[in-house]
Amino acid sequence: MFATLDAVLADAAAHLTRAARDRKSPMHVPVVGTGDGDLRMMVLRACDPEIGLLRFHTDARSAKTATIAADGMASVLAFDPDAKIQLRLRGPARIETTGPVADAAWTAASEYARRCYLAVGAPGSPTDQPRSGLPEEVEGIRPSEEQLLPARENFAVLLIEPTSLDWLYLAHDGHRRAQFARSGAGQDWQGTWVIP
Ligand SMILES: Cc1cc2nc3c(=O)[nH]c(=O)nc-3n(C[C@H](O)[C@H](O)[C@H](O)COP(=O)(O)O)c2cc1C
Repeated sequence: MFATLDAVLADAAAHLTRAARDRKSPMHVPVVGTGDGDLRMMVLRACDPEIGLLRFHTDARSAKTATIAADGMASVLAFDPDAKIQLRLRGPARIETTGPVADAAWTAASEYARRCYLAVGAPGSPTDQPRSGLPEEVEGIRPSEEQLLPARENFAVLLIEPTSLDWLYLAHDGHRRAQFARSGAGQDWQGTWVIP
């Protein structure tokens, strides 16, 4: 089934591209790691067949955006329990709040998804009681385009260009593991089998 490194790479790409378009995919919400050691789940929004660029959406005021802006790296961890495949990716990462990618992502997002970015305080800000941070007039409703206007400046895309990929397949007759690396975006992946 996974006889060649090319087959493994194709499998990883198939998992990630499906994860981005199918919310029922087990890899739709991978764990994203930052250089400060913190981890969080994030919805994978896009991945191309070459695994050249992963896109996530986030609040420009969140803690992770500052960490990524400072060190320019991020990692991704995903697991498909039915396929028994674990993927670990790492590479240069950046936050964009303006430009064509952020604009297109904002326009394509639903009103409910965009409503999150109306929160008055930054994610992680202390509050005196449990609250969403959303203005009262938009809580529990679908906001209008006009109501959503102030949210745009809080919206950011997180873009990761993986330069390393670790693929692990769990099997009764013995696990299999492969590692791939490339020098940068647009370069070919170079793979090798490793002992799991
Ligand atoms: C299922 C699930 C999906 C999530 N998706 C996102 C997401 O797409 N973007 C995001 O910024 N946070 C998402 N979160 C929230 C993050 O895990 C995290 O709590 C939040 O972004 C604050 O992280 P930070 O303090 O590291 O910036 C999600 C959480 C869960 C449980």
